[in-house]
Amino acid sequence: MPEPILQVRNLTVHFYTYAGIVKAIEKVSFDVYKGETFALVGETGCGKSVTSRALTQLIESPGRIVEGQVLYYRDDGSVVDLLKLSEEEIRKIRGNEIAYIFQDPHASLDPLYTVGHQIAEAMEVHGKISNIKEGIQKAIQILKSVLIPDPERRVKNYPHELSGGMKQRVVIGIGVSNNPRILIADEPTTALDVTVQAQILELLDKMKREYNATIILITHNLGVVAETADRVAVMYAGKIVEIGSVDQIFKNPLHPYTQGLLKAVPNPMTKIEKLEAIPGTVPNLINPPSGCRFHPRCPKAMEVCKQKVPELKEIEPGHFVACHLY
Ligand SMILES: Nc1ncnc2c1ncn2[C@@H]1O[C@H](COP(=O)(O)OP(=O)(O)O)[C@@H](O)[C@H]1O
Ligand SMILES: [Mg+2]
Repeated sequence: MPEPILQVRNLTVHFYTYAGIVKAIEKVSFDVYKGETFALVGETGCGKSVTSRALTQLIESPGRIVEGQVLYYRDDGSVVDLLKLSEEEIRKIRGNEIAYIFQDPHASLDPLYTVGHQIAEAMEVHGKISNIKEGIQKAIQILKSVLIPDPERRVKNYPHELSGGMKQRVVIGIGVSNNPRILIADEPTTALDVTVQAQILELLDKMKREYNATIILITHNLGVVAETADRVAVMYAGKIVEIGSVDQIFKNPLHPYTQGLLKAVPNPMTKIEKLEAIPGTVPNLINPPSGCRFHPRCPKAMEVCKQKVPELKEIEPGHFVACHLY
């Protein structure tokens, strides 16, 4: 039996804007198992970043976590609800046991400090080193592990002296600097060239093995998922619509939205060449569609889809879908 490291239940986040209440994510539930790479996939605006940030209460005003639990299984077997922790308590976990890598490496690094200093600082905040000098020595080791050539020299570089791909390696280095149990990578390759993307994904895999971490990989690109992930959750308009193993999702996608996403990327498992985008766009989440939020774009929509919100149901072991077809 896989052991859970996170159990997310009914996670709901709203943004209270002047235009109205944005129901960014609604009753999102999923498990993440120890040691796996769990992918969260969906088009831009579906709620992936909000979900991942809410896991450690990283939601800023006008947003609020209005409901939910994030059960976190510690190494000693104890369980805590991360949403119940005080700001001080969650700060000890965030960036330490649970670390983030964000999409844009330029925005993640401070232009005023050397990369060595920034890696050292990340460790110092969590008391992992006693002074910056010791931190720089460790930073050199980390730069080596993220495969930055000539780390003794690079540690003294400022971000602007590095390419986009090298910067993202540094950001990953900061992410792993405190030996996290969970590494959340939010579109880690989206801002990078295609050739660099594959290297960064390989690097994440290397980090997972070296640091024995669990990875939550967020991407709008299902193509990225096939080679990297063990399991996949598909999100649409703030809801999880399907969860399964990579095999289940790619060989037997159940939700029409997942089927649509798969038609839009080269599928390594079916080798279908012709790519089709899903017609329409992700709805505004102030007034999301009634019933199944996908129904206005769904080629298989029925009357019930407008009326009733479909619940996630287990169709085969480990394969869940929220769709009235099943
Ligand atoms: N600060 C904010 N204020 C208002 N709405 C927001 C804010 N941040 C995110 N949202 C809304 O929440 C929804 C989900 O956004 P997000 O999680 O960023 O999507 P994704 O990461 O899948 O592209 C979107 O409708 C977005 O407009
Ligand atoms: Mg995002």
